[in-house]
This record gives sequence, C-alpha cells and structure tokens, in this order.
Amino acid sequence: MSLVEKIDLQRVPQHIAIIMDGNGRWAKERNLDRSQGHRKGLDVVHEITNDAADLGVKYLTLYAFSTENWNRPQAEVDALMALVVFGIERETPGMIENGVRLSVIGDTSRMPADVQKRLQKCIEDTAGGTRITLNLALSYSARWEITHAAQQLACEVAQGKLKPEEIDDTIFASRLTTAQLPDPDLLIRTGGELRISNFLLWQLSYAELYFTSEYWPDFNKESLCQAIIDYQSRERRYGKTSEQVTTNEKA
Ligand code: IPE
Ligand code: IPE
Ligand code: MG
Repeated sequence: MSLVEKIDLQRVPQHIAIIMDGNGRWAKERNLDRSQGHRKGLDVVHEITNDAADLGVKYLTLYAFSTENWNRPQAEVDALMALVVFGIERETPGMIENGVRLSVIGDTSRMPADVQKRLQKCIEDTAGGTRITLNLALSYSARWEITHAAQQLACEVAQGKLKPEEIDDTIFASRLTTAQLPDPDLLIRTGGELRISNFLLWQLSYAELYFTSEYWPDFNKESLCQAIIDYQSRERRYGKTSEQVTTNEKA
C-alpha cells in the first residue's frame, strides 16, 4: 500500500503551514554555497504546492523569510531576494494554469521595491485560482504581526471606531495578516529543530505539530504524506475530554 493510499481523503488538513528549514545544512553537506540550498528549496516549493493541492489541501503557508533573517549576511539576503523574483517569474504561468493563488503575509515594505512589485503582480495574476492558496510568509514574524494588530486596534479605539471591551478574539484575528485564512490544522517543521521561530504564534494555538529531521531540499511527496498520516492519527480535543470529542463525532 502506498503512503498516499493510507491517507483518508475526507480528513486532509485544510491548511498546512511549513517552516522550511535546513537549506543551508543541506548545501554544506554537499560542499555547496548556502544559496544553492535555497535554490533547491525553491524546486521543492513547486513540487509540494502541487502535491498538497492534489491531496485536497486548500491553504499552504510557507515560512520563506523571517524578520530575523534580515540579520543574515547581506550576500545571503540578496540571494534570497533574487530567488523570490526568479521563483515568482518562473512559477506564475504554471500557477495560473494549475489554479494556485498567491498571497503574502509579512512586512513586505522592507523588501526591495522590485521584489514587492513582482509579488504584487503575481498576486493579481493568480487571483482567480481556486485549487489552493499558496501563502508566503516573507519578512514575517508573529511578534511583528501581533504588535502591528495591537497598534491598529489602538488607533481604532482612539478614533472612537471601536470600544476596548469590543475587542475579542475574532476582532483581534481579523486585524492579523491572516484574516482571510483559517487557522493552520497542521504545522510541519523540517530540518530537525524543535521550535516555532516566531511563526504564526496566534494562529497555531490548536495546530497539530509535526517535526522531521529531513532538510527542506529533501522533503518530498512521501514526506508530506507521512506528516498527514501522522496528523490523522491525532485526536484534536480543543480542551475537551476524549469522550466528548468521540460522542460529538458520532452525533
Ligand atoms: C531555511 O533554511 C530557509 C531560510 C531561513 C531562508 P536555512 O537557511 O535556515 O538552513 P539551515 O537551518 O541553516 O540549515
Ligand atoms: C525559520 O528558520 C525561518 C524560516 C524557515 C524562513 P531559521 O533557520 O531562521 O530559524 P532558527 O534561527 O533556526 O530559529
Ligand atoms: Mg535554519
């Protein structure tokens, strides 16, 4: 039985978020430059987006560049920005053809103007895609996002548009960059580290977490299937008892 056949297609996670880690170590093990690890990682983004769409995943959020990644050596930052443009230009026609819609979360105003422009054009060109939303986290960090939302809410209160007591978790979530997306059901981190690294701190509240030591450039459809199979073996209780959850399922 293949791994794909072991997946219950009725219970595929609607939204998968991935911390794509390990490009640098993958390259180092091969005596390559770190940028070549990122370049290979881009090909994996292409494959995994299509694999996820084929399996019925509707939203795929990929952590591509964190706020903290701005502190890397300038040459690596420049190579990553160039790779975003290269990737967008290469992928846009296929995305349109395959119904892949692009969205971006993060403080993109920090990115070079040409990168911002290219991303914006791809967002517009792919706006009609309904098969899967590919959501790229670029210049993103959860603390930036949450403080930004708090600032916005404070302004609305100061302008009299909102009362402090009206702020509840639905209103707060609607001021986050992910307002249009459901929360991730499954978080995958490749590369072996067991941490969140400032990713989607609000949205991951009830996500199932899956860590693999595989480096992102080695991640493939089998790896994705394995993560989904593991996810499907979990019981999502949201604070309730196991009995309550199984009774609800039957009801
Ligand atoms: C993840 O791979 C990609 C980005 C953070 C841009 P890394 O570049 O962090 O790879 P490692 O963790 O050094 O192996
Ligand atoms: C997390 O990876 C960010 C991305 C994958 C874009 P890092 O390699 O930057 O995370 P740390 O530094 O190991 O926590
Ligand atoms: Mg890393």
